Amino acid sequence: MNLLAQPRHVTEANAVPARWRADVRAVLITEAQLKVRVNELARAVTRDYVGKDLIVVALLTGTVLFLADLLRHLAIPLRLDFMGVSSYREGSTARDLVFTKELRLELDGRDVLVVDDILDTGRTLRGVLAKLRQLEPRSVKTCVLLDKPARRLEPVTADYIGFVIPDLFVVGYGLDYAERYRNLPFVGVLRPELYQT
Ligand code: IMP
Ligand code: MG
Repeated sequence: MNLLAQPRHVTEANAVPARWRADVRAVLITEAQLKVRVNELARAVTRDYVGKDLIVVALLTGTVLFLADLLRHLAIPLRLDFMGVSSYREGSTARDLVFTKELRLELDGRDVLVVDDILDTGRTLRGVLAKLRQLEPRSVKTCVLLDKPARRLEPVTADYIGFVIPDLFVVGYGLDYAERYRNLPFVGVLRPELYQT
């Protein structure tokens, strides 16, 4: 059992930095906790991919901060590519994936690690995995910063998980609400009144 690969479970709230108090109700994962955990994930990935021909496929845009911190601690040769995926709801449940940026690298015969910000219903990762498998990589694994298992609709699990979180809508460290708050250095929960408009 690889202990570094075991997700951390988040339960407590932390103090909100003064400059974000008008927008953020609670900090779920602090900057310091993110740093420690992302470093652990990088060590787990490094250990598993030594000697392999790794291609990291990061999903835009929510992975930016997580990816930058993860990559700098991966102590192995690798190549990086991006895939743009967005999802929009039609009615209340049905949701289609739209690919907004295609890969540049050939995945054929390579070991692929897909990086995403959060595994929620699982629809995004399921659609991405189906698309990637058509390109015949040697292996495909998944790495997500956050996992919200309470909302899962598809039978998807991730191989590397940073934190398992409760059923809350979170922002920061790359994650957005209506494209804002990606630049928060922590993962937090917005004040409910900000969702009204
Ligand atoms: P899924 O397809 O439902 O698993 O959702 C994955 C995508 O939904 C993520 O890549 C995010 O862009 C978005 N998402 C899901 N939950 C949250 C959240 O709590 N905060 C911000 N974005 C989220
Ligand atoms: Mg998003």
